[in-house]
Amino acid sequence: MANQEDQFKKVLSHAKEYGYVFQSSEIYDGLSAVYDYAQNGVELKKNIRDYWWKAMVQMHENIVGIDASILMHPTTWKASGHVDAFNDPLIDNKDSKKRYRADVLIEDYCAKIEAKINKEVDKAAKRFGEAFNKEEFLATNGRVVGYQEKINTILSRMGASLEKEDLPDVKALIEELEIADPLTGSRNWTEVKQFNLMFGTKLGASAETAMDLYLRPETAQGIFVNFLNVQKTGRMKIPFGIAQTGKAFRNEIVARQFIFRMREFEQMEMQFFVKPGTQKEWYDQWKATRLKWHLSLGMGAENYRFHDHDKLAHYADAAADIEFKFPFGFKELEGIHSRTDFDLKAHEEFSGKKLQYFDHEDNKSYTPYVVETSIGLDRMFLAVFSNSLQEEAIENGTSRTVLKLPAILAPYKAAILPLVKKDGLPEVARKIMDDLKWDFNVFYDEKDAVGKRYRRQDAAGTPFCITVDHQTLEDKSVTIRHRDTMEQKRVKITELKELIHAEVAVKNWLQRM
Ligand code: GAP
Repeated sequence: MANQEDQFKKVLSHAKEYGYVFQSSEIYDGLSAVYDYAQNGVELKKNIRDYWWKAMVQMHENIVGIDASILMHPTTWKASGHVDAFNDPLIDNKDSKKRYRADVLIEDYCAKIEAKINKEVDKAAKRFGEAFNKEEFLATNGRVVGYQEKINTILSRMGASLEKEDLPDVKALIEELEIADPLTGSRNWTEVKQFNLMFGTKLGASAETAMDLYLRPETAQGIFVNFLNVQKTGRMKIPFGIAQTGKAFRNEIVARQFIFRMREFEQMEMQFFVKPGTQKEWYDQWKATRLKWHLSLGMGAENYRFHDHDKLAHYADAAADIEFKFPFGFKELEGIHSRTDFDLKAHEEFSGKKLQYFDHEDNKSYTPYVVETSIGLDRMFLAVFSNSLQEEAIENGTSRTVLKLPAILAPYKAAILPLVKKDGLPEVARKIMDDLKWDFNVFYDEKDAVGKRYRRQDAAGTPFCITVDHQTLEDKSVTIRHRDTMEQKRVKITELKELIHAEVAVKNWLQRM
């Protein structure tokens, strides 16, 4: 646990020190759970967004993109169910006056039991060595089985109570488990209440005529309300998809874990419209396709797992999360939801407009079913960033901090470094820079000893360093150093473009899918 916390602290400080993420309005002491992407962060974020867009839109003839507004007609949110049901169960501590999500307090309690299970596993693994079989141990060790049963009982009771809106039982559970305020230890709790997560705003100049609006809490509804416009103008045939990336806003109560849970964040969503009855097939297919996309980035298959939902939202007939191993454990990174025809039907009802598709093959109209893939861009950023940050022992007994970002996502693909700031080397380096910058985002650095500059680029995540030295003046060759292996190779300047291209070409990455 302590190790995880240390690693997470390193992620936070590295993100600031190397110009990836800053706290919003930091000079005013920041705004809780709101962050700004800095000069390197904005590039990494854009590269992740592009990588998703290439895979989802450009690689699929039957998926097109849109960019809908953040502000939408307020009835949208009535129809979608967000006005009535987009709530979190809250509880206040009467002594500390702190507010918590009741379900998170209970989940954190279960996480502590899970930590005990992990401890038992570690102990047994040490004891049994090579012969240790984790699955068997989890299934047969009395203490571990007891812990797991306790977790299951607690979570299923909480799930059932939340579903039935039985909030007194959620409070009763907190009291029975003797859960205390994590900050003060007090167990003096209020009742559990529901709290709507949407941010409200107003449209219009005068107080009397102003219209109450919401900042969208998900991008998906912008797709649903445009379904027929896109289908007709794009002459789309079912099955087809509409993709979108953009900001969403949620007044999260427990906003913590850095950019994992923010109040203003970005989603990358795709709604895939299918013929009723085929949704299960498409749901399975999109689960597999999305996992492959993640795996194509080479961040380790062991860091992903599916979590199939037992309790389904009222609009879904199947749902799963792709979870990623963040520094604080496995958590949801992306959701894949089979949303039935709930959204389109609801918008038909509330707008009075038909949102149906005429199927020429079947010669009939129907409301399509929808399979949705929804990933948080900021969460993906955190997954990539935290997974890439490594402390590595190197040969001479020292260590280096290296940010092993997948090269396709790295903000700068190469840094160009004249060995010294004289003898005409900076001029040659600048010429290389001017040539490469048409194809790649490249960085120029002539300050400090070259070793120090290598370390800086390692920590910033730049996959290549190109060094111009005196030999360059003689034979037009440079050294190219690889961030991950630290290997250096002498190559001709004319070969650089191809070498870098081979490592950062989107085709080479996506074809691993
Ligand atoms: N349209 C479906 C939808 O919005 P969701 O599970 O609520 O589903 C989808 O959100 C994804 O958006 C999540 O898997 C997560 O990656 C991201 N996300 C949700 N809330 C977030 C928050 N407060 N901060 C950052 N990312 C968030």
